[in-house]
Amino acid sequence: MRVKGVPFVDLAAQQASIQTEIGAAIQRVLSECNFVLGPQVEEFERDFARFVGCEHAVGVSNGLDALRLALIAMDIGPADEVILPANTYIATALAVSAVGARPVLVDCNPQTYNIDVNLVEPAVTPRTKAIIPVHLTGQAADMDPILEVAGRHGLRVIEDAAQAHGTLYKGRSCGSVGSVGCFSFYPSKNLGAYGDGGMLTTNDQELATRMSYLRNYGQTAKYRHAEKGLNARLDTLQAAILSVKLRHLPRWSKARAAHAKVYRELLSGVGGLVVQQEARYSTHVYHLFIVETEWRDALREHLDAREIQTGIHYPAPIHLQRAYEDLGYGEGDFPESERLAKRVLSLPMFPELRREQIERVAEEIEEFFAYGQQ
Ligand SMILES: Cc1ncc(COP(=O)(O)O)c(C=O)c1O
Repeated sequence: MRVKGVPFVDLAAQQASIQTEIGAAIQRVLSECNFVLGPQVEEFERDFARFVGCEHAVGVSNGLDALRLALIAMDIGPADEVILPANTYIATALAVSAVGARPVLVDCNPQTYNIDVNLVEPAVTPRTKAIIPVHLTGQAADMDPILEVAGRHGLRVIEDAAQAHGTLYKGRSCGSVGSVGCFSFYPSKNLGAYGDGGMLTTNDQELATRMSYLRNYGQTAKYRHAEKGLNARLDTLQAAILSVKLRHLPRWSKARAAHAKVYRELLSGVGGLVVQQEARYSTHVYHLFIVETEWRDALREHLDAREIQTGIHYPAPIHLQRAYEDLGYGEGDFPESERLAKRVLSLPMFPELRREQIERVAEEIEEFFAYGQQ
């Protein structure tokens, strides 16, 4: 039977495949009524720390708050600068602004889309306090050169691993390589909650303790507040759901990688199309499967008309967002990020994607390049 439309992500298919386990986990929380920092939060923190290969994990409200708490715990604030890629989701920059520090942007590598490590050191000034490499799309930024620059200048490294659950950088899990790893469990992430959620990972005991009370009003004992903290806790219900889903994640990541392989085979040689390069030093968990073409908008329309959903990650880099006009950057400052913003298209990618669906997407792309690209 011919496949009709293809969704970009299919959360319903995933939910249907685990509904009994999820139901039981939710039922347990409901019967205990321990909705805030209940035992399931600690259980999930333990499971996730083991998954990342870190000593500590602290469950938080979302990925943005994870980044924000990491910066606060490192005493980064007004008058400080933090280096991050121009090609990222806005949350990376917003966390820096939220603590009053200045985001200093760096262009990306045109093949991997991650921060161009050669441009990091030239961006360091006496005010620089940290670097936030983002493991965008599901593959790791090249961490070793970043750690070397950080070591030479006494900087912290915070990994934005919101799109990289389970990605390995030279055999080490993203989120365990820098001082702190920040994860998001936004529903469509590779490990997604049924609402918002996030996690901090670290091997630094002192930071772990501080981040864990900072997320809970700075409370060190009942009604004792050592610092002006936030309410940024991971919900018990989300933790219970995430523990169930974490058990399936390795299988889901394998499925994503297998789908990417099929896409690559079917799309190789399709004129005018470039597929994101896989880096030698990283595995890829394919949060996103991205292709590039100068006819991006027309291709997207062509697919849309055939009920094939796609995404653009992202249509504008940070320095061209109105929210960041105040940084004083302009068009042309980060040419690779700007070029990608005009060319990238994310194809349907989720573990439950079927071969026929991938074939349908590839056929329609071929047809576009054969007949319809103008
Ligand atoms: C790279 C990146 N950083 C941070 C975030 C923020 O995560 P959240 O939506 O959970 O706040 C996201 C996702 O939304 C992201 O993709």
